[in-house]
Amino acid sequence: MERTCLAVVLAAGDSTRMKSNVSKVLHRVANRPMIAHVMQAVASAGVSAAALVVGRDAEEVAAAARVPGIEVEAFIQKERLGTGHAVLAAQEAIARGYDDVLVAYGDVPLITEAPLRAARQGLAEGSDVVVIGFHTDRPTGYGRLLVKNGELVAIREEKDASDAEKAVTWCNSGLMAINGRKALDFLRRIGNGNAKGEYYLTDVVEIARSLGGRVTAVDAPEAELTGCNNRAELAVIERMWQERRRNELMLSGVTMIAPETVFLSYDTVIDQDVVIEPNVVIGPGVTIESGATIHSFSHFEGARIGPHAEVGPFARLRPGANLGSKSKVGNFCEVKKAEIGEGAKVNHLTYIGDAFVGARSNIGAGTITGNYDGVNKHETHIGERAFIGSNTVLVAPVSIGNDAFIASGSVITSDVPDDALALGRARQEVKPGRAKLIRERSLAIKAAKKS
Ligand code: UD1
Ligand code: MG
Repeated sequence: MERTCLAVVLAAGDSTRMKSNVSKVLHRVANRPMIAHVMQAVASAGVSAAALVVGRDAEEVAAAARVPGIEVEAFIQKERLGTGHAVLAAQEAIARGYDDVLVAYGDVPLITEAPLRAARQGLAEGSDVVVIGFHTDRPTGYGRLLVKNGELVAIREEKDASDAEKAVTWCNSGLMAINGRKALDFLRRIGNGNAKGEYYLTDVVEIARSLGGRVTAVDAPEAELTGCNNRAELAVIERMWQERRRNELMLSGVTMIAPETVFLSYDTVIDQDVVIEPNVVIGPGVTIESGATIHSFSHFEGARIGPHAEVGPFARLRPGANLGSKSKVGNFCEVKKAEIGEGAKVNHLTYIGDAFVGARSNIGAGTITGNYDGVNKHETHIGERAFIGSNTVLVAPVSIGNDAFIASGSVITSDVPDDALALGRARQEVKPGRAKLIRERSLAIKAAKKS
């Protein structure tokens, strides 16, 4: 039987140092609220229920914490009396009797499933408390893991530590797993007789041992435990997240020429043999399929780029852009809520919105779909192998047939059938010698002004 687990995620901080009108855990990393990253890691560690301990913005935080695969329930911690007190805010959930209780922090978004699973494994092997620790050159501010005869005996907070204890470099991440059947008993025994006058969750180490329980620790990489207290740290976390994800993608077969200039979102999907040139920004909801090439300075969100498509430089794909295989969207083009058929080309200075472009059609430079009348949006349908001459406005709703030909500079307001030629522009007039006359007149005016 698989062990049941409740995650208790602490997010009741006041976020003072963020200098923000919203809770810290709602600030985004890779276009996703920090709290959702934590929930995702917890869900990946096989946890199906979470108690979220919140202070301010309870509803917003709870909503942001809802990720697939995990049931989230919010508990309000009215006063901030310490981490032990915070976990007890969720006592109603803990009392339901899970095998494991896993404590995580809402402001430590780089955590992955591995240390969380390791901590749960420790419980499965008979520990009552498993602390997630880390080794660091800069232990200041963290609780220190104190060892005696090879056993973890206590966690000492910085403010309560002796000089000898402060020299310890094995630190408490704050995350830990506790035997779910004993957790409430341990937590209720925590007092606040310490330098800060707070209820320290870390006291469960000594409490469990005093009751004859076993306490162990597992280690996690320091980078995964980076916490966020201010906007500068938020930027550091963003950078670390981006580096990690880019590396994963490169190792899975994506080429990035200057990876440090490519920005991904939490849900970006990029298949093998995609090449990404420098300076590309990928917003949420983007999939790039195998063999596609992304040229520099492109910006995407909510878009699918089909296999072997070529996009950019300077292309903007907005939500609903769906590029077929081997299609091309070139420089200074914007595509929104539009399907670009297989092998179709939209190469220069074009806006395609609320549209369907059939396979192998060619959209000339400067083509615009006039999709908006100031009130409603309308659709443009272009068949296969159509040729749209440069500087055409397609005033939607309008439909262009297969193999149709639109002359350059046209304003197309009515449907064009298959194989038809459509011209929607003023007929050209040529007046021999007239340019010369105009020029001479202009020069005469200029000369008269000087004299
Ligand atoms: C805590 C640990 C310390 C560890 C450090 C790692 C304790 C007593 N100390 O210290 O050993 O090295 O984290 O970063 O646990 N929170 C609440 N309600 C509260 C208090 C805290 O929700 O009443 C939340 C905070 O928002 C934060 C987390 O719990 O997400 C940790 O609280 P914080 O005050 O940062 O604890 P530290 O003093 O850093
Ligand atoms: Mg802290």
